[in-house]
Amino acid sequence: MTSPTHVAIIMDGNGRWAKSRGLPRVAGHRAGVEALRNLVRAMPDFGISVLTVYAFSSENWSRPKSEVTDLMGLLKLFIRRDLAELHRNGVRVRIIGDRATLQPDIGGLLEEAENLTRENTNLTLVIAFNYGSRDEIVRAARKLAEAAVRGEILPQQIEMDDITRSLDTADIPDPDLVIRTSGELRLSNFLLWQAAYSELVFVPCYWPDFGSDHLAEALRDYAGRERRFGGLSPEEAVAPAIVR
Ligand code: FPP
Repeated sequence: MTSPTHVAIIMDGNGRWAKSRGLPRVAGHRAGVEALRNLVRAMPDFGISVLTVYAFSSENWSRPKSEVTDLMGLLKLFIRRDLAELHRNGVRVRIIGDRATLQPDIGGLLEEAENLTRENTNLTLVIAFNYGSRDEIVRAARKLAEAAVRGEILPQQIEMDDITRSLDTADIPDPDLVIRTSGELRLSNFLLWQAAYSELVFVPCYWPDFGSDHLAEALRDYAGRERRFGGLSPEEAVAPAIVR
């Protein structure tokens, strides 16, 4: 199997990483940003075209206000500090998630990052921020319903592709591989539509400890998988069918 085009990561375990060191949770998130920075710098070694990271979920608003403020602040800091380097390295930044409910200054920064890096082709870094898959699907359904009300599409004409094109990820290929750190075994409302046939790899270490070696191991695991997309393996496909 070839290497994946698109790897998506649920960066989990920042809080537990901090707790295990007797540090406040924000220290875990800061270390998480550092781990992300290092991984993006190492991406040219891996031949991956798209890296998506889950930075803030639409459910994360229910965390204490101070932690929400810390996470917003870290995103702003990340964009301000790292944008020039990302641009220099040919990284195209894309943001998915609901922008409408974000503070205008954050919305502006996200737009600036996307506009500046729009033409870059070395790597697409997709940051899922204020993102929830169900929310994204609801927003896509609304867009299609509005198009139907305007008479631009008939309800019976709506196909899977129309939904795919109405999602925040419209022009981004589906993830081939989804990695989750910290040993939790779930998708937590991340890319539910897009990950229908993704391979899943769960890594026990906390996100701040995740590095190139862990990614290389996840890619080896992926390389050993057989992707069938609901079909048969090549051997089974050519074997004579058993007629009962
Ligand atoms: C999960 O750890 C992680 C998050 C909710 C946020 C991930 C965010 C970062 C890595 C930093 C922000 C990223 C950018 C791009 C600025 P958790 O807090 O749920 O950990 P726990 O399960 O151990 O409590």
